[in-house]
Amino acid sequence: MARIISVSNQKGGVGKTTTCINLSAFIALYGYKVLVVDIDPQGNTTSGFGIAGEHKENLKNTIYDVMMGDATVQESVCRTTVPGLDVLPATMEFAGADVDLMNLAESREKVLRKALNAVRSDYDYIFIDCPPSLNIFSVNALTASDAVLIPMPGDFFSLEGIGQLMNTVKLVKKRLNPGLEIEGVVMTIYDGRSNLANQVAAEIVKWFGKSVFKTRIPRNVRLGEAPSHGLPVVQYEPTSKGSVAYMELAVELLRRDGIKVKPLTNLSRYRYRPGMQSVRRQAKPREKTAAPRDKEQ
Ligand SMILES: Nc1ncnc2c1ncn2[C@@H]1O[C@H](COP(=O)(O)OP(=O)(O)OP(=O)(O)O)[C@@H](O)[C@H]1O
Ligand SMILES: [Mg+2]
Repeated sequence: MARIISVSNQKGGVGKTTTCINLSAFIALYGYKVLVVDIDPQGNTTSGFGIAGEHKENLKNTIYDVMMGDATVQESVCRTTVPGLDVLPATMEFAGADVDLMNLAESREKVLRKALNAVRSDYDYIFIDCPPSLNIFSVNALTASDAVLIPMPGDFFSLEGIGQLMNTVKLVKKRLNPGLEIEGVVMTIYDGRSNLANQVAAEIVKWFGKSVFKTRIPRNVRLGEAPSHGLPVVQYEPTSKGSVAYMELAVELLRRDGIKVKPLTNLSRYRYRPGMQSVRRQAKPREKTAAPRDKEQ
C-alpha cells in the first residue's frame, strides 16, 4: 500500500516541483514503485519528466479527466525515463477544473483521494506536486495524503507563509482527513554561507522540531537545468551537488519509514542514455509486485 505524500507550500517557487521530481526519482532508483501526481495546472512536473504536457492532444488522459471521473488513474499514467516511476500528468487545461470541481455537488474535496485509492496497492509511494495556492486542488491533495512534505527556502518570506499553511493543514485534518501528518520540512535552494539562511533554518527548527530534515538542498544550477532536458537531475548530472543532496533526502525519508538503506554509490551509472526506457508514451498499468525490489543498494 502506497504512502501518499503531498509536496505542498502555497508560496511559489520554493522548490516543490524540483523536490517532487528528484526525491521521487531516487526513491524509484532504490527499487520502489512510485507515482508522481501533478495537480498543478502549470504542469511543471509533467514537462520536467519530458512528458509533453503543454498540449492536451499529446496525452490520452490527464489529471483533469481523472478528477472529472472520465478516466481512471491506471488509464492515465505515463511512464518516465526512471524505471518504476510513473506520472499522472497535468496540462494547462486543468486550470479551469476548479470551477468544474466546485460544481460537483458533494465530496469535491475527496475526488483525488477516491481516484488514488484505486491504485494504492500498485505503488509504494505516491507524491503529489501541489500548486502554489491553497485552493481546491491543494485541498484535494491534502485530503488524499498521509502526510505533507513542505519545501522551504532559506529566505525571510518563507517564514511568513508558515502560519497560513499550518492553518490549512489543521483545517483539512479536522474536517476532511484526520490522519494527515507533517512528513517534514526540507530546506531548499539553500545557501549555507548566508547568515539569513542559517537564521531561517534555526526558526524552522523551532517551529517544526525533529520533523525538519537534516538534509538541506543547496542552490545548484544543475537542478534548474535538468527539467529542460526532461530528466531528473540524477539522470542529467548524476554527481552534481543537487543530485547528491536529493539522494540523501531520499535516504533520510526511507530511513524515517524504517527502511534501512545505504547511500547510493557510483551515481554516474544513472546518467540517461537513450533507450533506457521510453518516455512520452502513455503507460499501460504495471503488474503488481509483492515487495519492493533491490532495497539495499
Ligand atoms: N536547489 C535549487 N537550486 C537552484 N535552482 C533551484 C533549486 N530548486 C529549485 N530551483 C529553481 O527554482 C525555480 C522554482 O523551483 P520549483 O519550480 O521547483 O518551485 P515550485 O515551488 O514548484 O514553484 P511553483 O510554486 O511555481 O510551482 C525553478 O526554476 C527551479 O529550477
Ligand atoms: Mg511547482
